Amino acid sequence: MKTLYTDRTNLINLPFCHSSQFFSPNPNVPSLFIPSTHTRKLTPKSSSISLKNTLFSPIQASMASSTVTEDTNKPFSVLFVCLGNICRSPAAEGVFTDLVKKRGFDSKFRIDSAGTIGYHEGNEADSRMKAASKRRGIQITSISRPIKPSDFVEFDLILAMDKQNREDIMEAFSRWKFRDPLPEDAHKKVKLMCSYCKKHDETEVPDPYYGGPQGFEKVLDMLEDACESLLDSILAENKHIQES
Ligand code: 4NP
Repeated sequence: MKTLYTDRTNLINLPFCHSSQFFSPNPNVPSLFIPSTHTRKLTPKSSSISLKNTLFSPIQASMASSTVTEDTNKPFSVLFVCLGNICRSPAAEGVFTDLVKKRGFDSKFRIDSAGTIGYHEGNEADSRMKAASKRRGIQITSISRPIKPSDFVEFDLILAMDKQNREDIMEAFSRWKFRDPLPEDAHKKVKLMCSYCKKHDETEVPDPYYGGPQGFEKVLDMLEDACESLLDSILAENKHIQES
C-alpha cells in the first residue's frame, strides 16, 4: 500500500460553476484542483484544464502496473474518462460492464468512470445517454465524479474519450505530486478509447452533450466497437483472467 497526499486549499474557478461542486464530499477523496489564476470557460470546444502542482492528503492506494496486472488475484481495473462524466464515460462503463457480464468475467473486472472536471459531481448520467443505452439493453448506473490521484495508482487501464481528456489526465498525472513516485511507465496506462475501435476510423469519441439524438447513437456505436476489442486485448495480455 502506498500513501498519496493532497492539498485541498486550491479552488477550481470556473466562471459559471459553484466552486463547492468541485470539492469531494469525502475528505479522503480529492477532487481536481485548478489554480484561480487559470480561470477557464467550459465549452464543448474548450475542455482543457490546468492542475496545480499539488501534494495529496493521505489516502491509501496499492501500486499497479500499466496494462498488464501483476497481481492475478486482483480484478483487472478499467477507468473510463471524459469531460463531465455524464455522457461518454458512463456509457463506456455501461457498455463494457454489459460485455464483461455477457462473457462471464464479472468477478474478474473492476469497472468505473470519471470526469476531468467535477462540475456534475454527484449527478446521474445524462438522461439522453441513459435512454439511448437502455434502448440497446444497457443500463447506466454511474454517478458523476472527478478523476482523483488514487485512480492513477489503482487502475490498470485509463481510457480517455478524446485527446483533450487524455491531455487533461496526463497534466494531472504529471503535476500532482505523489509521496511515493508512480512507476516510470505508469503514463502508459492512459489510452485513447478509439485506439481500440475496429469498425470506426475516428480518433476520438465525439462529445454528444450539445448535439442531437444521433450523437448519442454514434457514441454508443463507437463504444460497442471499442469495448469488444478492448476486452479481447485485455484477455490476450492477461491470460490469468480466463485461466482462473
Ligand atoms: P461528457 O459530456 O464529457 O461525455 O460527459 C459532457 C458533459 C457535460 C458538459 C460537456 C460535455 N458540460 O459542458 O457541462
